[in-house]
Amino acid sequence: MRFRPTGLILTLSLGPALNAATNLTSLVNLFIGTSSGANGGSGGNGFPGAAVPHAMAKVGIDVNTAPRQAGYIADDSPVTGISLMHDEGTGGNTDGGYGIFPLFPLGNCSFTSCPATLQARSTLRQFGSASDSATPGYFTTMLISGIQIEATSTRRAGLIRFTFPAFTAPTTNHIVVDLVDDLQRSFQGGSISISPSARVMLSGTFLQSYGTDNYTAYACYDFADPAQPNATRLVQFGTYQSTSVSSPNTITITPFNTSLSYPFTGNTNPIQAGALLEFDAPAGTAESFSSTVTARFGVSFISSEQACLNAEAEVPVWDWDAVQEASRAQWENVLERVALPNLENEDATVVELLYSSLYRASLVPANMTEENPYWSSPYAFYDAMFCSWDVFRTVHPLLSITSPLEWADIVNAYVDGWRHTGYIPECRANTKAGYVQGGSDGMPILGDFAVKYGAHASELGVPIGDLYQALVDTAENTPSNWYMVGRQNTAWITFGYIPTDWVDPSGAMGLPTREASRALEYAVGDFAVRQAAVALDESASDIAKYTNRSMNFVNHWDPTVSSDGYNGFMQRRYPNGTFAFSPPDACSPIDPTPHSCVRGTDNDVGFYESSSWEMSFFAPHSMSTIIRLMGGDELFVNRTNLYFSMGYFSAGNEPSFQMPWMYHYANRPDVSALRVRQVVYTFFGTGIGGIPGNDDSGAMAALLVFHILGLYPVPASRQLLIGSPLVSSYTVHNQLFNTSTTVTVQNFDATTLAATPPAGSQVYVQSVTVNGVQRDSICWIAWDDIVGGGEIVIAVGADPTTDGCGSAPDSRPSSLEQGGFA
Ligand SMILES: *[C@@H]1O[C@H](CO)[C@@H](O)[C@H](O)[C@H]1NC(C)=O
Ligand SMILES: *[C@@H]1O[C@H](CO)[C@@H](O)[C@H](O)[C@H]1NC(C)=O
Ligand SMILES: *[C@@H]1O[C@H](CO)[C@@H](O)[C@H](O)[C@H]1NC(C)=O
Ligand SMILES: *[C@@H]1O[C@H](CO)[C@@H](O)[C@H](O)[C@H]1NC(C)=O
Ligand SMILES: *[C@@H]1O[C@H](CO)[C@@H](O)[C@H](O)[C@H]1NC(C)=O
Ligand SMILES: *[C@@H]1O[C@H](CO)[C@@H](O)[C@H](O)[C@H]1NC(C)=O
Ligand SMILES: *[C@@H]1O[C@H](CO)[C@@H](O)[C@H](O)[C@H]1NC(C)=O
Ligand SMILES: *[C@@H]1O[C@H](CO)[C@@H](O)[C@H](O)[C@H]1NC(C)=O
Ligand SMILES: *[C@@H]1O[C@H](CO)[C@@H](O)[C@H](O)[C@H]1NC(C)=O
Ligand SMILES: *[C@@H]1O[C@H](CO)[C@@H](O)[C@H](O)[C@H]1NC(C)=O
Repeated sequence: MRFRPTGLILTLSLGPALNAATNLTSLVNLFIGTSSGANGGSGGNGFPGAAVPHAMAKVGIDVNTAPRQAGYIADDSPVTGISLMHDEGTGGNTDGGYGIFPLFPLGNCSFTSCPATLQARSTLRQFGSASDSATPGYFTTMLISGIQIEATSTRRAGLIRFTFPAFTAPTTNHIVVDLVDDLQRSFQGGSISISPSARVMLSGTFLQSYGTDNYTAYACYDFADPAQPNATRLVQFGTYQSTSVSSPNTITITPFNTSLSYPFTGNTNPIQAGALLEFDAPAGTAESFSSTVTARFGVSFISSEQACLNAEAEVPVWDWDAVQEASRAQWENVLERVALPNLENEDATVVELLYSSLYRASLVPANMTEENPYWSSPYAFYDAMFCSWDVFRTVHPLLSITSPLEWADIVNAYVDGWRHTGYIPECRANTKAGYVQGGSDGMPILGDFAVKYGAHASELGVPIGDLYQALVDTAENTPSNWYMVGRQNTAWITFGYIPTDWVDPSGAMGLPTREASRALEYAVGDFAVRQAAVALDESASDIAKYTNRSMNFVNHWDPTVSSDGYNGFMQRRYPNGTFAFSPPDACSPIDPTPHSCVRGTDNDVGFYESSSWEMSFFAPHSMSTIIRLMGGDELFVNRTNLYFSMGYFSAGNEPSFQMPWMYHYANRPDVSALRVRQVVYTFFGTGIGGIPGNDDSGAMAALLVFHILGLYPVPASRQLLIGSPLVSSYTVHNQLFNTSTTVTVQNFDATTLAATPPAGSQVYVQSVTVNGVQRDSICWIAWDDIVGGGEIVIAVGADPTTDGCGSAPDSRPSSLEQGGFA
């Protein structure tokens, strides 16, 4: 086994600077998808604070109204603090995840009566969310108290600066260091200590936001820059704490007290507690913002001492501009992996959407290497895999093109999860296993790595034999609780489907719901094992076994069910083989009857966050089978059209992601070209409501990147559907191969950039040429083509081609049933 030394990623040559003259970070709009209220959360639950790529520390302000999954909402809500960690775009608890150890600035108050509690200190922003601005690596806002808040950060540390209004007479400024308030108010115990050197150390146990467990986090704040002892001006400090649990919002402030400690209770504790620091402020003028307090922070999951070490190691010098510039440079490096050679002439909105989406697609998962509280390992540790169900479709395939070095580390974190728990993690977040939504969708992620980088695995430091074993174990074994990790393989292997109303004799537990959608995802997971087995030259019997199992999705097809004039739908099934009927529109956006469509036992529909209407299209590895079951190309196309026109499409949720592209399989890439534009221009935009659903750890962001580039990845395969891009050219750079591949759209027509391209506009792909050789198919290319270096030319025109994808036998994208993916 070879390990790649840590730190290699940042020191490897990243190849040519593709946009040397351009400042791509300036094109990122961090506020897309931060509006309130849509889809059971904000219009995206986007996190607009300061963070480096794959950061553990995600520093941002929190508001006091929910839903606020990422702490922030672009509205007029009062601010309760600036806290150290957040999720990006997730669903889960509507109060949010993390939001731990917030700071809050209070101006001139009398020390023992300062309004330190969450309720008392909540303060409006000067102009609501118009007071906020951010660029990659930097966030700022202005409160009505006249206090400006700024943040910048590294992977596990950073700086937070408060600039107080100046007074003509000397005054005092205060900072609250809050021990207990995470976004969920779920404090279960912890402690805070203050040293006279102006160092505050904290530890706290809180509930995870999507699961049943708790986690313990640590932080360290320094308020004295050793290089500038005179600038600090700490004149007084103490603690505040609730007078009692029954009166949590009445506090006592105790000057000179240096510590508070609350034993772990197992219940959430409603108290208020923390530290209060007073800084002396010299007289100034109203114009001179001379009165600042800067805090350096570190976070950790190991100990508060480690949090201090993280701060000292990552921000050794309190040089704000250097920290911010280093963060910006890391982002520039990520963003320039997709370059626009013709940037000045591209549509400005598309450019903003592209770079804002590339940004969000690299915020998570979080690199928590050296911060794993549970086992020690030479491998990278990643968290905020929230959830693989969300990110396997687009985020990981995007990483596979542009970011193999980071991706290899993330894949290693998945494999290491199996190594230490027996199963591939599915939804690890806040360091703990979260709920399983459908399949164990780390499987298509690992399968994708095997098919794309299996031959380079040792170079990338991934023990590929372990990766394969992780896939097999997750495909074969049934954990004691498959609701938190793994799959209900007992049922899947015994029946070839997931039976409804069946008591598992193995004693394995889980919520026996979502039977049909779980089975459809299990089939894709088994396809991923099959693909890995082929790529890694595993035994013929493994290949045959998983090929066979991956086709078992057909066992949920009930040909007798009709809806809207179409026959045959995926349905639940009893152990005796009889189908259990659910209306195909149940749990669709136009479901006429209220149903529970999530995880609970009250989900009696059989589908998770999707309908039978939609999931009946989900077999990305054998779409020809679906077309056959649906009665052929023409019925399939008509049925897909009806799916869109009736409103079964749900732009904001993952099961819908593939749908605009499905016409490719029925030889109609022309319809896909129109659908992709319709979806992008109907549902996405650069406003705060510009994401149609939760961003889901960058899943929607990566989807939009693919739509813009005219690509859609087929899970666990080296195939990408190709279409009509929204930019005239782009270059993707692959770090490992040090290749640049330029895709040029011949006859690119900017008038097609609309929900409905005008008649006669050149929206349809006519031919695809890779390094001078015209391809038989205009519907797909190989991943090797997009990372292989050189030139891909997509010619577009006003008329759809007469022979669909092309006339060769393999012009259509692959399907297992047709002998594809050989
Ligand atoms: C993750 O953290 C490790 C340990 O500091 C570091 O070596 C690696 O470069 C980091 N990777 C990314 C993508 O930040
Ligand atoms: C990457 O390729 C560029 C030319 O495209 C070359 O200048 C550079 O030296 C290469 N870097 C490495 C590490 O091979
Ligand atoms: C990049 O653009 C931002 C926003 O326009 C600007 O603040 C920053 O100084 C620029 N940085 C560089 C290195 O040009
Ligand atoms: C600051 O607060 C103190 C105590 O409440 C008060 O005496 C003083 O006037 C205040 N100073 C200013 C500038 O408001
Ligand atoms: C919470 O934390 C405690 C102490 O670390 C631990 O014993 C317990 O198992 C955790 N989980 C839950 C669900 O309480
Ligand atoms: C800090 O202030 C003291 C007292 O005013 C002064 O003697 C000393 O030179 C100052 N130190 C620095 C580094 O400015
Ligand atoms: C600080 O105050 C709390 C609450 O009054 C008390 O329990 C604790 O012992 C004090 N700590 C110190 C170091 O005095
Ligand atoms: C899978 O294997 C079983 C048992 O050999 C067989 O009955 C079934 O037809 C196979 N399914 C497919 C799709 O080949
Ligand atoms: C199969 O089981 C279901 C549920 O118990 C029952 O309604 C149905 O009649 C059974 N079918 C047959 C053919 O026995
Ligand atoms: C598909 O829809 C078209 C247009 O509505 C219609 O003419 C055609 O008959 C339909 N095809 C089938 C097989 O139903």
